[in-house]
Amino acid sequence: MKLTSIKGMHDVGPPEIGLWHHVEKTARQVLEAAFFSELRTPVLEEEALFTRGLGNTTEVVEKEMYAFADRDEKRLALRPEGTASIVRSFIEHFATPGGSHRRFYYMGPMFRRERPQKGRYRQFHQIGAEVFESTHPYTDAELIHLADEIFRRLNIQGVKLQLNSLGCKSCRPIFKENLLQFLKPLAATLCADCQRRLEHNPLRVIDCKKEVCIAATQAAPSALDFLCGDCSVHFEGVQQGLKAFSTPYTINPRMVRGLDYYERTAFEFLSGELGAQNAVAGGGRYDDLVKELGGPAICGVGFAIGLERLVSLVSTSPINFKSPLKIYFAGLGEEARVRLLPIMLVLRREGFCVLSAFDAQTFKAMLRQADRLNADETVIVGEDELKQGVAQIKNMKTGEQKNVSLNTLVDYFKGSLLSSTQS
Ligand code: HAM
Repeated sequence: MKLTSIKGMHDVGPPEIGLWHHVEKTARQVLEAAFFSELRTPVLEEEALFTRGLGNTTEVVEKEMYAFADRDEKRLALRPEGTASIVRSFIEHFATPGGSHRRFYYMGPMFRRERPQKGRYRQFHQIGAEVFESTHPYTDAELIHLADEIFRRLNIQGVKLQLNSLGCKSCRPIFKENLLQFLKPLAATLCADCQRRLEHNPLRVIDCKKEVCIAATQAAPSALDFLCGDCSVHFEGVQQGLKAFSTPYTINPRMVRGLDYYERTAFEFLSGELGAQNAVAGGGRYDDLVKELGGPAICGVGFAIGLERLVSLVSTSPINFKSPLKIYFAGLGEEARVRLLPIMLVLRREGFCVLSAFDAQTFKAMLRQADRLNADETVIVGEDELKQGVAQIKNMKTGEQKNVSLNTLVDYFKGSLLSSTQS
C-alpha cells in the first residue's frame, strides 16, 4: 500500500519553506516590536472549548471539526482556529487582575474538514494576534494596522481591508429580528444552506456568496442602521484610529464573519489574486468570549492571517531567495577531511552555512555537487594541499581560484563576509 499525506494536508519543504521562514520571521518582527509575546497552545483541546467558544451552529463546529472520543472517552478536537485556545490559555495563566501579559501572538496549524480546493485546506496555518482588556477602538485599529503592516513589509500589494460593526448584545438582536422579517418571505428563493441558516443564524444569509442569495438580499437591512449609541461611537472610533494609523478601509455592511463570538468590530483582508478563497486574514472584537469560557469579564480583539494564502501572495512578488549554502568543503581522503572538520565547525559557529562532502569520491564529483547545490565557494584540499598546509578556494560564480593557508581559513571567510556586507 502506498502511503501518502492525507487529503487537504500538505508537506512544506524546500524551496518553498524559505518563503515560510521569511514570512514567519517578518510577522514575529512586526508583532514583537508592538509588545506581543508568543503563546504556544496544544493543537488538541477539549471539544467543548470550540463548541462553546465558536458557537454550536457555526459551520466550523457543525460540519468541519475533527472531533473524536479519546481512549478514555473524553471528547477532544483538533483546533479549527487559534482564538478559543488563546482565550482558554489566557484564563488559565494570565487573566489575574493587574497581570502584565495582555498581548499574544501565535503561529501554527489549524484543522477544518472543508472540501479542499486552491487556498482551502484541511490542515492550514495561521499567524494570529489577540489583545485582552482594552475596550478602546484604537486597539482594534492598531491590530488591523499590524496585519496590514505584515503585508506591507512582505511587499504584498492589492490587499483590501473591509470593515463592519456587528453591534453588541443589546442592539444585535433588534437587527437580527428585522433581518429575519425581511428574509422570511424570501425563504423559497434562497439556497438550501441559507434556508437552514434562516432558522438559527440569519446573519450568515447576507454573507452568502451564492448568486441567488446575493440577488435576494440586495435590499436587506444593514447592521450599521441598528447600532446602539455606544456601538456607533466605537465604530466611529475604529475608523478614526484607522485614519491615524494610515490604514485605508472600505465599509462592507454585509460582512458578518463565520464565527459567533464577534461583537462590534469585524474585518477581513481580501486579495484579488487568491481566486475563490480570497480572504487572506480576518478578525474582530469578542467582548464576551473570555467570560463565556469561564473567565473574568475581560474583553478581547484579534486577527488571524492564513499562512498558505499569505505565502502564495509573497511568492508572486519579486523577492529573490538566495541559496543558503555558502561554503562547500571538498576534502579528498580521510586525512584531508579530518583536517577540515574542525575548521568547518568554527565557521558554522560563526554563522556560515557549510557542508562537507562525505560521499563523493573524486574532486570532479565534489565540484559537480557544489555546483548543483549552488555553493558560493568550494574549499578544495587533497594530498598536495595538505602537505603545503593550504586550501584551494574556488569561487563557484566566477571560477576564480586562490590558495589560502589552512591556519587562516576562518579569518579569510570572516574577512570576505565583512567585505561583502560593506560593498
Ligand atoms: P477565520 O476567518 O476563520 O478567522 O480564519 C482566518 C484566516 O485563516 C482566513 O482569512 C484564511 O486566510 C485562513 N483560513 C481559514 N480557513 C482556511 C482553510 N481551510 N484553508 C486555508 N486557509 C484558511 C479565525 O480563524 C479567527 N480566529 C480570527 C480571529 C482572531 N478573530 C479574532 N482573533
